[in-house]
Amino acid sequence: MSSDHLVVAIDGPAGSGKSTTARSVAKALDCAYLDTGALYRAMTWWMLDQGIDISDGDVIASRSAEPVITISTSPEAVEVHVDGADVSEAIREPVVAEAVSAVSRVPAVRTRLVQIQREVIASGSIVVEGRDIGTVVAPDAGVKIFLTASPLARAQRRNKDYGQAHDEVAATMEALERRDLVDSTRDVSPLAKADDAVEVDTSDLTLDQVIAAVLSIVASR
Ligand code: DC
Repeated sequence: MSSDHLVVAIDGPAGSGKSTTARSVAKALDCAYLDTGALYRAMTWWMLDQGIDISDGDVIASRSAEPVITISTSPEAVEVHVDGADVSEAIREPVVAEAVSAVSRVPAVRTRLVQIQREVIASGSIVVEGRDIGTVVAPDAGVKIFLTASPLARAQRRNKDYGQAHDEVAATMEALERRDLVDSTRDVSPLAKADDAVEVDTSDLTLDQVIAAVLSIVASR
């Protein structure tokens, strides 16, 4: 990898501030941005659209090569297409969020989507966010960040994103923790901090502070 091809890997659980941070950092560095979660959501959307039983890993594996999935790399907006249809909004629906962990734990799904991710990453300087970027997808990334936040802070952020009431925080926290558990205990490429990643706890930081922290880590490399 040439020195002018910078890869910034940002991993962490849902609600850690990853997406907003990664996008803002990409804009500040004037480089591309890859939301790898959107690819897993697109695969999941397609499986649901096909009426596939997402509890059946064998069926998921056998069908996983079928959908044609493309993703934009502009930090301004993530555009995802499946078989030519724009699913950018559909993949954010709760029904997809509920099913995505089951689909993304299937090895054939990961192999296929990691290949797409590596092709995108090879095309130039980029900020990549996900769960296994620093460990599996781009172990040679020049900068690796692992964002964390307390479950409460993450649930509060999620609810704000979705405009939900305060009394729904407990339910959101439970759903996030359930998804984290599946994501971090699956056999293949679990959510994990790479040994050489810098951990940033965002619980008590504003978004601007998180972005500044990440940019200073990038600058120090
Ligand atoms: O970041 P997100 O919430 O959009 O990710 C959706 C799901 O995709 C998440 O629950 C786990 C999975 N995922 C993954 O397994 N590996 C990645 N690199 C990114 C996301």
